[in-house]
Amino acid sequence: MTYPEIYRKVQGHMATVLSLGALGADLRLRQTGIDADPRVRGALQAIISHQAPPGTIEGLESGQIATLVGQITYALQEALDLIHEPERAPGWTYVDPSVLQERGRGSRSAALSFRAMAQTRPALRAILENQCHFLDIGVGVAWLSIQAAQLWPSMRIVGVDVHEPALKLAEANIAENGLADRIALRRQSVTEITDESAYDLVWFPSMFMPAEVVRQAMPLIHRALAPGGMLIFAMFAPAPGDVGADVTNLLTIRSGGHPWTICELEALLTSAGFRDLEFVNSGATACTMLARR
Ligand SMILES: C[S@@+](CC[C@H](N)C(=O)[O-])C[C@H]1O[C@@H](n2cnc3c(N)ncnc32)[C@H](O)[C@@H]1O
Repeated sequence: MTYPEIYRKVQGHMATVLSLGALGADLRLRQTGIDADPRVRGALQAIISHQAPPGTIEGLESGQIATLVGQITYALQEALDLIHEPERAPGWTYVDPSVLQERGRGSRSAALSFRAMAQTRPALRAILENQCHFLDIGVGVAWLSIQAAQLWPSMRIVGVDVHEPALKLAEANIAENGLADRIALRRQSVTEITDESAYDLVWFPSMFMPAEVVRQAMPLIHRALAPGGMLIFAMFAPAPGDVGADVTNLLTIRSGGHPWTICELEALLTSAGFRDLEFVNSGATACTMLARR
């Protein structure tokens, strides 16, 4: 491939990246109600008309807009992070409050996906709706927990994390949303969990934990669940397209995780004592393996 050919390819990718930014900008303007220069608005509209038929964006709910803005920001920040610091060690090391908050907001979609999965899974619906004790591992700045508490008013939540900057923001977010009596925070690694039969539901975002941590954690989570309780083990879902699986592997590794195969994961969960394994890929950012104690 010659330099002009590579350059043309890069230009094509640039158009895609900027279109994504334009979609994010339009959604952000709708989300905040802020006004923009009419020429910018017109240019954004022209780009968006290539991505979504008229009326599609107008029909989105505010939670869906927040999720999309979060995911778009996530992808673009991740790309910049790669360019700026390709040498950094894998892991979740962000300290910038705006990055932590934006990424946390994106994870509200996980709670929405619990609701979507529960529509066709009566066991999960029963767990969510009946005074569920929920353990949110890697609670971060607590937006997933807040969204879950808002969706299920009888739910009580414990959130654990090892990242102090995130936990400080989590405390403030929980207080601002009036949920301090329902969401408790603990500075604790998943490998230090000693609870027994205490939770009906556990969220485990494996894409932020090294393989060794995941291996250590599974028996502890099994013990922490009440009999019949459910684990939602999340991984990044393979992105569409030829390069999708490779991009997802890179994202997982940079985030501190291990790209589990389904076979590996089934063996791991079964040996920790889990049963009724079900792999779910609904086309969202994360795919999940559901498992019961
Ligand atoms: C994507 S962030 C969580 C986002 C979160 N749902 C929110 O609303 O902000 C993943 C989190 O996993 C946490 N984490 C990584 N390793 C962990 C471990 N061993 N135990 C507990 N949390 C861990 C990270 O510190 C990070 O806050």
